[in-house]
Amino acid sequence: MHVPVMLMETVDRLAVKPGGTYLDCTLGDGGHSAEILRRAGRGCSLLALDRDEDALVRAMGNLRNFPAAVTYSHVNHAHAADKCRELGFTALDGALIDCGVSSEQLDEPLRGFSFLHDGPLDMRMDRSHGETAADLVATLPADELARIFSELGEEPCARQIAAEIVRAREREAIITTGRLADIVERALGPAARARHRHPATRVFQALRVRVNHELESLGMAIDGILPLLKPGGRLAVITFESISDRLVKHIFADHVGKIESLQQGGAEWRGELPRVAKTDRHAVIPRPEEIAANPRARSAKLRAVEIVTEQPLP
Ligand SMILES: C[S@@+](CC[C@H](N)C(=O)[O-])C[C@H]1O[C@@H](n2cnc3c(N)ncnc32)[C@H](O)[C@@H]1O
Repeated sequence: MHVPVMLMETVDRLAVKPGGTYLDCTLGDGGHSAEILRRAGRGCSLLALDRDEDALVRAMGNLRNFPAAVTYSHVNHAHAADKCRELGFTALDGALIDCGVSSEQLDEPLRGFSFLHDGPLDMRMDRSHGETAADLVATLPADELARIFSELGEEPCARQIAAEIVRAREREAIITTGRLADIVERALGPAARARHRHPATRVFQALRVRVNHELESLGMAIDGILPLLKPGGRLAVITFESISDRLVKHIFADHVGKIESLQQGGAEWRGELPRVAKTDRHAVIPRPEEIAANPRARSAKLRAVEIVTEQPLP
């Protein structure tokens, strides 16, 4: 089962209210949702989203004994706000986004997320549609592959790897995780094996982020959810890659910055009023004991915002 990351820190940050209304945008196995339901008690309601149907089925089983009302929906959280409006979740006390993949997805060779197990090079969280990683590796030009590896995976040898992929796919289609991992290792040479991480880590990360349009979904989810939070309502976001953490940090800072300049009378704000007023200066990271018990938590960062007032004009 997936071990929820920074479970207590995250749910503490949400300041869960008995009988409150909550949104979990990344249900997974339901570990964070279970703790929210435990704290919010009988009269609460929870809307639980996941773009992976297998996760929803598993979580429904895991949460079946809670007496609270849980509504499940198979949807990309890019559309969380529309889903909330459709189902009447328009005044939220709290919302959570726990980005990335679950252990079940990572450990299942057929999902194609991991270089540690050989399987089809898929990587889609929602297998009902969309391009697979194999489709991208087969069709994108070398320049575009290099840009993806560099921007989304922060891979310093992106060009070298992209060129090796293009050479290899001319000989034979790259359709398995094992073959892609071998090609990356070959491109990087023996020195890469001495890296403390597997040489294909960054390439796999980049492809997963691109296949699932993770950054676009995250940005749309945050922008959509903030207007649905009540005053005092909170949004907590856990990320696992620095590129996603930077996005969250900038979106939060942008909203807070707009409010600060309005309050100081230094800016004229046109358009919808920004509603976020408080955020942490630094991200919360897992305690060393948590990382020792669950090494997958090691790169996690948690950031939260709180809506302080409905009308932040000076
Ligand atoms: C890290 S796991 C969440 C684990 C969960 N917090 C728990 O305690 O079990 C991430 C989950 O979010 C889902 N997910 C990732 N991106 C998503 C998106 N854009 N929309 C909906 N679900 C998404 C994945 O399918 C996966 O099940």
